[in-house]
Amino acid sequence: MLRVGRGKAFNKVLRVPGDKSISHRAVMLGAIADGTTRIENFLPGDDCHHTIECFQRLGVKIEREGATTLTVHGKGWKGLREPDQCLDVGNSGTTIRLLLGILAGSPFFSTVYGDASIARRPMARVVEPLRRMGARIDGRAGGRFAPLAVRGGELKGIEYHSPVASAQVKSCLLLAGLRAEGWTKVKEPHPSRDHTERMLKAFGAELSLGEGAVSVRGGQSLAGCHVRVPGDISSAAFLFAAALLVPGSRVTVRDVGINPTRTGILDVFRSMGAEVTVTPTDQWCGEPVGDVTVAGGPLRGVEVGGDLIPRLIDEIPVLAVVATQAEGRTVIRDAAELKVKESNRIATVAEELRKMGAQVDETSDGLIIEGPTSLQGALLDSHGDHRIGMAMAVAGLASEGEVRVKGAEAISVSFPNFAEILKELE
Ligand code: S3P
Repeated sequence: MLRVGRGKAFNKVLRVPGDKSISHRAVMLGAIADGTTRIENFLPGDDCHHTIECFQRLGVKIEREGATTLTVHGKGWKGLREPDQCLDVGNSGTTIRLLLGILAGSPFFSTVYGDASIARRPMARVVEPLRRMGARIDGRAGGRFAPLAVRGGELKGIEYHSPVASAQVKSCLLLAGLRAEGWTKVKEPHPSRDHTERMLKAFGAELSLGEGAVSVRGGQSLAGCHVRVPGDISSAAFLFAAALLVPGSRVTVRDVGINPTRTGILDVFRSMGAEVTVTPTDQWCGEPVGDVTVAGGPLRGVEVGGDLIPRLIDEIPVLAVVATQAEGRTVIRDAAELKVKESNRIATVAEELRKMGAQVDETSDGLIIEGPTSLQGALLDSHGDHRIGMAMAVAGLASEGEVRVKGAEAISVSFPNFAEILKELE
């Protein structure tokens, strides 16, 4: 149980753990590359540990030096071997979907499964296009849900127009495309995060980008790389929100990833009236890094939809919390994808915020929040979803009376030291 009381004004300079999306990809590309991949500032969260374990079961040697430094000894695709046990992805959607792209073209049998949340998440979005490439995948409900069984083999490139803007779908197909015959092209309705594209280039792959699509030629091999993982802007977002929820506060997060496909939350906080300063400092393995400062002030409601949604999809729970303190109405639309995240985040955000007295309506593809409302302390539930747990904990900083969050252990999926950092802000 995590307990959070009302916050006092703070002015802090902090760091957050490494980016989850980039940490997964560094292990995966390192595993299929030839040579050594050294990874620094790796996220020591549960999701990324599952990725490491899956690749160890596939025969890849991965050495750990402390919690955040790893060496992956890749031997190319040939270095992967048939696992003698099922591959457990835990709670991680990125692990299962990207891994399927690698397994589809690997000439052996494997099975993948995860926790109760993973078993509810849609897999047809990757299974169906992989089958079009020639993959043999079976699973629960005809392969629409995990557990899934893969008999890997030869693939052929396809041109795929994804109905959803999803980096997991895009990345799965690009990884499969690396082993397929000919070219694989993926087009999506809105641009999703492009970490796979950036990292593939850093590992020496050739990609063709343009007109909302990315293509990869099959038969390319990757070369091991040195990856330094930027701080996760999705974790930093909880600290930015804290600064907005506690009047008079300011926070700087150093060395955070500022890839434009991930910074939608900064644009939205700015349009709500927050002071947001981004100072780019470096590029790490093709990823822009910088220091980001956020300070509060009077906030107003905003409308968020369209292309912005994939740029802040994981930040919507905490955006909803901030919106309860903004003057006027906040409308979040085009975000039906929230229903198929670690929990149904439209339902879980609305349910938990209402327990605190917030005015929140669920719509078919988003949320409508009326503000400002004064939040009351309450017993809240993470629903086993790390981002719901953290969003509700941060809401406690703005509430009268203590917030208690049940199921807070889920937070270790992406931000293992969250509770310690939050304590500094109370
Ligand atoms: C991720 C992509 C997003 C995001 C998830 C991580 C990734 O999911 O919500 O937390 O690492 O590729 P979708 O691709 O399903 O939108």
